[in-house]
Amino acid sequence: MISKLAHTSQFILHVFTLFTRSLFVILTLLVITFAIPVLAQNVQLSVDVTKSGPKIDRNIFGQFAEHLGHGIYEGIWVGPDSKIPNTRGIRNDVVAALKAIRVPNVRWPGGCFADEYHWRNGIGPQRAVTLNPNWGGVSEPNTFGTHEFMDFLDQIGADAYVSVNLGTGTPHEAADWMEYMTTGQPTTLAKERAANGHPAPYKVGYLGIGNESWDCGGNMTPDYYLSQLKIYSRFVRNFNPEQHDKQQPMLKIAVGPGGGEPRWTEWTEAIMQAYQHHTWSWDIDGLSMHSYTVGEHWPPSYKSVGFGETEYIQMLKFTLNMEDLINKHSAIMDKYDPQKKVALVVDEWGAWYAPLPGSNPGFLVQQNTLLDGILAALNLNIFARHADRVRMANIAQMINVLQAMIMTDKEKMVLTPTYQVFKMYVPFQDSTFVPVKFDAGTYTHDNVSLPRVDAIAAKGREGKLWLEVTNVDPNQSVEVELSLAGTNAKSATGETLTAPKVDSINTFDEPNTVVPKPISAKVQGSKLTLKLDPKSVTVVSVE
Ligand code: AHR
Repeated sequence: MISKLAHTSQFILHVFTLFTRSLFVILTLLVITFAIPVLAQNVQLSVDVTKSGPKIDRNIFGQFAEHLGHGIYEGIWVGPDSKIPNTRGIRNDVVAALKAIRVPNVRWPGGCFADEYHWRNGIGPQRAVTLNPNWGGVSEPNTFGTHEFMDFLDQIGADAYVSVNLGTGTPHEAADWMEYMTTGQPTTLAKERAANGHPAPYKVGYLGIGNESWDCGGNMTPDYYLSQLKIYSRFVRNFNPEQHDKQQPMLKIAVGPGGGEPRWTEWTEAIMQAYQHHTWSWDIDGLSMHSYTVGEHWPPSYKSVGFGETEYIQMLKFTLNMEDLINKHSAIMDKYDPQKKVALVVDEWGAWYAPLPGSNPGFLVQQNTLLDGILAALNLNIFARHADRVRMANIAQMINVLQAMIMTDKEKMVLTPTYQVFKMYVPFQDSTFVPVKFDAGTYTHDNVSLPRVDAIAAKGREGKLWLEVTNVDPNQSVEVELSLAGTNAKSATGETLTAPKVDSINTFDEPNTVVPKPISAKVQGSKLTLKLDPKSVTVVSVE
């Protein structure tokens, strides 16, 4: 009787175990079936490589280096006697890092600094010590001047974009500076240049005529600025014989808008209307535009690190305004310059946060997180989509200031997430835009909705098809299915950049938290599939 009972209870236990196991299997299957589509979103992209658009000018990857905080001093210049390895005073580690991202041009010496810069203070053996009233009121040793800037450009392989002083300077001073830099004739200024170590004329690829002349550059009205612009455009000449052919002329860039409000649309109207009727005696090739991502209001109050998803989505929402701003000013330019001879030059852009606690507020020191890398990718994609008009841009600023590529602390150097994105985008330099169609989907947080993905495609100079896809969503991965027309694909490989958190950073001690990792796609016929991590930037080439 007892053994029968034991047998029955064993049987019941067995049935119960089987039931619970099956239940577990069924539940697991249900979870897999319904949960996976929630975790990975599908996005269809299509590219027809037989269609092509304008060239994506490599100059959109330009940099901006102002005499501000540790942007120049410590960031680039340590002096020839420094223990930090250097070549004629310029840091070797920084030069090597910048060469790797193929910096096309560097805008210098400012910014607001440019409209108070007197070039003679920065040449010759005795340098005047002056002040930098805009940025912390510190003294300016002028040890980094014209020759050091040109040497730096030579070392990194970039072109000079020189902003002349239209605020406290004169056309005479600016004209002399250009003669000093560029003439091949044996003038007194050329002899002085030779005596200072450079007999051959320098090349100046781009000339900025003033900076934010509606504000820190002298609070000018459009009419006042226009009369100055005409004078500078006429008299500040480039004499370098090698720049007198049509291949390498110096391009002159006028001050343009700083936003989308009426005072700036009126500014663009005024300059472009005058341009339409310009005579032989003055000309411009570019109109500058400045647009920072600062959050809701000025002064910037968002933290550059130690934030969460709410700040992440807000900053990205604000940065996407770049598209509207470009559309707005391009439409005005199209009215007066339908042939798009004048480039829109976005020569100050990037994220501007509250200064890091404990730093000098005048030095504009901020951290650089994965968010900044994603923000950079979204802006570069906007520029690429407007490549017919936006032919140059300069992120602010190159080293240790605002959305920097590089941060230094004495002998230490670290490459930021923004640097990594610029490096991943190198194949897009001077590539040919190829339209890509996709339905971006939506990413929503805290009542803010953004397109979940962004993408561009281009044919590189070497003939390969390059594709960039940004997954903005920090919570869900994206399964990209790419249909290709006009070519056969065998494989797609490249790199993807992500990190554990939206505000992950690289530090001097842990420099590899936000660095690209290899990624490859699966190929089936003319379809490629690629799984993108949440909050990631991915660049692949299709073979
Ligand atoms: O990049 C910092 C400053 O921002 C520049 O000097 C000025 O042009 C702009 O307002």
